[in-house]
Amino acid sequence: MPRWKLFRRRRSQDDDSSNLNALPNMLGGRRRTKGVPYQMPIDDEEMNRLDFQHYALRFAFRGLYAAPIEQPVSILDVGTGTGRWAIEMANVFPRAHVVGLDINVPPIDERAGSRIDIRPPNYEFVAGNVLEGLPFADSTFDFVHARLLVSAIPAERWFYVIAELKRVTRRGGWIESVETISPQNNGPAFDKIASWTSQFLASRGVDFSYGAHVSEMMRVNGLTRVRSHMVPIPLGEWGGRLGRLMASDYITGAKGIGGAVTARNLASVDEFNLAYEQAVADFGTTRYHGIAPFYVAFGQK
Ligand SMILES: C[S@@+](CC[C@H](N)C(=O)[O-])C[C@H]1O[C@@H](n2cnc3c(N)ncnc32)[C@H](O)[C@@H]1O
Repeated sequence: MPRWKLFRRRRSQDDDSSNLNALPNMLGGRRRTKGVPYQMPIDDEEMNRLDFQHYALRFAFRGLYAAPIEQPVSILDVGTGTGRWAIEMANVFPRAHVVGLDINVPPIDERAGSRIDIRPPNYEFVAGNVLEGLPFADSTFDFVHARLLVSAIPAERWFYVIAELKRVTRRGGWIESVETISPQNNGPAFDKIASWTSQFLASRGVDFSYGAHVSEMMRVNGLTRVRSHMVPIPLGEWGGRLGRLMASDYITGAKGIGGAVTARNLASVDEFNLAYEQAVADFGTTRYHGIAPFYVAFGQK
């Protein structure tokens, strides 16, 4: 039995993993997670987007991680989404036990049964809410990874979340974060969508700009050897194949958040649709040289 299992914290009854997303929040016609700031949809279309985005990011970063890890035996991915990153890490490190944690159970891999289950035996999904604490004992993992949680963590909870990532990391182990901020210079149409999205997130306590400051929060939390760098990922035709991939990801993501933006009256449906159509057209030209700034930060406990 993997060591971390012996130390799992007891959950209360209504925190049972199979019930975590039992009460969906319907907003703008799509199922979203109830009770947390994060409001991207949790349907098949969004799961496909997350997988697609994972492959695009792996291409952009030329790999799965940046921290100087060697042979980790236990790896945790917090907010794992479909689990694609964690599953690939389990394949890269077949001797490691890899845990993907998310508030939502990945719909296909976890529920379709073993016939189409492509998960390696050293990968495991654990349900949990990072804002309520990670269900693992102190010093459990050699490598803790969290990617694209910026829209899930209210500004005043970032310090707590980093402290939780640190708590479950063993001394000498590494924590890596990959976050982004609002995309820039994509033309007035997509800039409008980005601004509505930021306003929507702000109404849920989320500050999109925090994605750029995780390395500072790591230092304040006492991590050492902290390094960070920004990767300006192009969006749209001007960025060649990567630009087209990422524009497609962002356009699908915009559709996902659009229902929430209009349901909260930050834009009318007509205004949103007009901006959306124009943004699709703009990404197909080389007129704007927009980017999505991604911040990679890692530090050692
Ligand atoms: C943008 S997705 C990123 C998924 C994955 N890290 C990736 O890069 O493909 C954010 C993920 O965080 C999860 N999430 C949101 N709030 C959470 C919370 N409070 N606790 C755990 N997971 C959460 C969502 O369900 C979603 O799967």
